[in-house]
Amino acid sequence: MRIGVLTAGGDCPGLNAVIRSVVHRALTGYGDEVIGFEDGFKGLLDGHYRPLDLNAVSGILARGGTILGSARMERARLSEAAENCVELQKEYGLDALIPIGGEGTLTAARMLADAGMPVVGVPKTIDNDISSTDRTFGFDTAVTVATEAMDRLKTTAESHQRVMVVEVMGRHAGWIALESGMAGGAHGICLPERPFDPADLVKMVEERFARGKKFAVVCVAEGAHPADGTMDYQKGEIDQYGHERFQGIGNRLAVELEKRLGKEARPVILGHVQRGGTPTAYDRVLATRFGWHAVEAVHRGEYGRMTALRGTDVRMVPLAEAVTQLKTVPLDRMAEAESVF
Ligand code: F6P
Repeated sequence: MRIGVLTAGGDCPGLNAVIRSVVHRALTGYGDEVIGFEDGFKGLLDGHYRPLDLNAVSGILARGGTILGSARMERARLSEAAENCVELQKEYGLDALIPIGGEGTLTAARMLADAGMPVVGVPKTIDNDISSTDRTFGFDTAVTVATEAMDRLKTTAESHQRVMVVEVMGRHAGWIALESGMAGGAHGICLPERPFDPADLVKMVEERFARGKKFAVVCVAEGAHPADGTMDYQKGEIDQYGHERFQGIGNRLAVELEKRLGKEARPVILGHVQRGGTPTAYDRVLATRFGWHAVEAVHRGEYGRMTALRGTDVRMVPLAEAVTQLKTVPLDRMAEAESVF
C-alpha cells in the first residue's frame, strides 16, 4: 500500500511520535510505502511531499513540533482539496491518507472522506477538547509545562507578596487551566465554560492574606471571561481561519485585581511555550499507539474514522462523531478543584 501522512493545524508535542509510529508499522509490519505531505493539506494540494523511510523518522520520538511542517488552511482551499480528492489520490497513487490534526483538520478529513478519499484520522491538540476521545496527546505536556510554571511562580510571588495571574491556552475548553491549576495548586481557576466573577477572586486573595499567606496564584484560560462584562472585556476577533483571537484576559485580570486589592499583581502569559519542546512520556506513548492503530485501521479498510482513547483502549470512532461538538469541561469537575483552593 502507499500511505500518505500529514500534520495540519497548530502543532503539538507528540506529532513526530505519531509519524514515526505510522512509518514503522507500515514499513516493517506490512511492507507499505509512506509519503509525508509538507505543511498540512497545502502539501497535498501543491504536490509537496517526500518519502518517509525508517531513517527519515529516526531520532524524532522526543522532538517537539513536526518534521513535516504544519499549516492552517482557508476553508475554500480545503473545499478545493475535497472536490479534487479522487484526482489527487490517483496523482499520488495513494491507497490511504492519515491526517493528524485538531478539530479543523479532522473536519477537513471528514470532507475528504465524504468525497471518496480513504482517510483515517489521528486527533491531536494540547487543548484536549476533541469529542469521542478521552485524551489527546500534547495535553499532558502542556499541563506539565503549566504546572511547572506555577510551581516556579509561587516562590517569586511569595518573596514579593504578589498575586500571579497565569494565562494558559484553551480558547473554548478549559482543560489545561483545570488540570494545571489543580496540579500547580492554583488558588483560583477561570474557565471559558464558566464566566467568572472578579469579586470572588478578590475575596479569595483577601482571605488568604488574612490567614497569613503571602501570595496567590490564579490560573486563567485564554478564553475565560468575566460574567458581568467588567474589565472592558471584549470577545476576540475571528481570524481568516475562523479562529477566535483573544485580547489577553491574563493582562486585564492582573490589572483589575491589582486595582481592587491594592496589592501587586503580575500577569504571566505562557502562550506557545505550552506547545513547544519535548513531549512527556505519556504523550509519546499515546501518540505511538495512535500511529499503530491508524495503520491497522488502514489495513482493515476502516475509513472515515479516527483513533480515539476510550479508557485505556484505543478504538476507532467515526470522524463525523468526533467533529460535531467540542468536548468542554463538565462544571462538576470545578467542584473537585475548588475544594483545595
Ligand atoms: O488549538 C490549540 C491552541 O493551542 C489554542 O489553545 C490556541 O488558542 C491556539 O492553538 C493558538 O494557535 P496559533 O497561535 O498557532 O494560531
